[in-house]
Amino acid sequence: MRNLLYYKHSRNTKRRLKLVEINEQELFDIANKTMQNAYTPYSHYQVGAAILCDDDKVYSGVNVENASFGLTNCAERTAIFKAVSEGAKKVKAIVITNGTEEMSKPCGACRQVMSEFMGPDDIVFLANNRNDYKKYTFKEILPLAFSDEDMN
Ligand code: THU
Repeated sequence: MRNLLYYKHSRNTKRRLKLVEINEQELFDIANKTMQNAYTPYSHYQVGAAILCDDDKVYSGVNVENASFGLTNCAERTAIFKAVSEGAKKVKAIVITNGTEEMSKPCGACRQVMSEFMGPDDIVFLANNRNDYKKYTFKEILPLAFSDEDMN
């Protein structure tokens, strides 16, 4: 698997762009490991997400279910809410995996939450439990996204 490269504004020097590098495999490993913590007594469908953020940190999340089913939080949103709580402002790449042979597909609510923190060309890896994956840009998985610009 290749390295994931992106440019980040350096803190010290105005306008200077720093090249940040992370191995894609690292994000997959974190998503897979985290998935073991999924709390899924009702669906038994485990999901793990790992996100690379603009603070150069990786955050992870799992789905957390509830006896009141509608209160369940998806893995993608868990990871994003953890990251934003810790000060991250943008998600540069996300890996989403699940415990089945079917490729992961983020739900509509998660895609909308992702759109708040991801740009059209940011990277979305959708994976399964066999280490198969497909790479998308965010705009491919959520065309015609509703955003703050629509309210101007
Ligand atoms: N789930 C996620 O974690 N992410 C998604 O995008 C799709 C659904 C979880 C929620 C619930 O715990 C289980 O999968 C079945 O819906």
